[in-house]
Amino acid sequence: MSKIIDGKEYAQILNTNLKNSIEQLKAKRKPKLIIIQIGNNLASNKYIKNKLKACQKVGIIGELKKFDENISEKNLKKEIEKINKDLLVDGLIVQLPLPSHIDEKEITNFISPLKDVDGFNALTLGNIMLNNSKIYPATPLGILKLLEWKNIDLSGKNVVIIGRSNIVGKPLTNMLINKSATVTTCNTKTKKIEEVCKKADILISAAGAANLVTKKFVNKNMIVIDVGANFLNGKYSGDVKFDEVSKIVKYITPVPGGVGPMTIACLLQNTFILYKEKENIS
Ligand code: GUN
Repeated sequence: MSKIIDGKEYAQILNTNLKNSIEQLKAKRKPKLIIIQIGNNLASNKYIKNKLKACQKVGIIGELKKFDENISEKNLKKEIEKINKDLLVDGLIVQLPLPSHIDEKEITNFISPLKDVDGFNALTLGNIMLNNSKIYPATPLGILKLLEWKNIDLSGKNVVIIGRSNIVGKPLTNMLINKSATVTTCNTKTKKIEEVCKKADILISAAGAANLVTKKFVNKNMIVIDVGANFLNGKYSGDVKFDEVSKIVKYITPVPGGVGPMTIACLLQNTFILYKEKENIS
C-alpha cells in the first residue's frame, strides 16, 4: 500500500466530475469566476495562471482583471462593487498579497458574501465557525476532502496544525473542531513544538517554512499533510523534509502534487456552489 496521498489524482477525479456536472446542466450560461490581481507578484502570476487553466478545463469562464500596483483602495473598491453587482459573475477572487497601501481585511470584507469563492469574508468565516456555511476556503476544504478520500475519520483524533493564518490555520482549526477532532494550533511562539507535534495522529504544516518538519516532529502512525509552497534554491518545496519524514510516517502528501491541486479543485467546486445558489439549482 502506498503511503503517498496523491492530491493530483483525487483533484483530477473531482475536476472530471465537475466538468460532467456543468455539461449536464445544459444551462443558459456557464459559471463565471473573476480574479483581480494588483501588480505583478511572481508567485501570484503562477497561481492565477493555474486557476485560469483549471477553469477552462471544467467549463467555467475564468477572467483576469489586472490593475496597476498603485491603484488606490477607493478605486479598487469601485471595481469590486461593479463585479459584486454583475449578475453574470458567480465568484470573485482578489489575489493576495495586496500592496501595503491597501488594507487586506477591508478588501476581503468588501467582496459580496454571495461571490466570496475564497471564503475569506468575515461573514463566511463566522458561518464556518458556526458550522453553517456553504463555502469553505479552498485549501482547508481540500485537506478535509483528501482525508475523507483515504477514509481517515477525524472524530476523536489528535490533530496538530502548524500555522494560524486566516487562509489555512484559523478556518481549518474550526472545520476540524466541527468534525469532533481535538485540535492544537501552533504558531511561532509555541514552546517545545517538536514534542507537541510528535503526539499528533494527524500533523498539518501550513507554516510556509521549507524543511521545518523533520523526523523529530513525527511518529510512525502519523498522517502528515504538507501545505507548504516554498521556493527553495529554485525548487518548489513544502514545509516537510520529505525524504526523512516519509520513511517514518503512515501517510504523507507530497509537494508538488498534494494539497496544491486540491486547492484549485475546491476553488472550482466553490464557484459551482455559488453558481447553483444564484441560479436556484439544487
Ligand atoms: N494567495 C495565496 N493563496 C491565495 C488564495 O487561495 N486566494 C487568494 N485570494 N489569494 C491567495
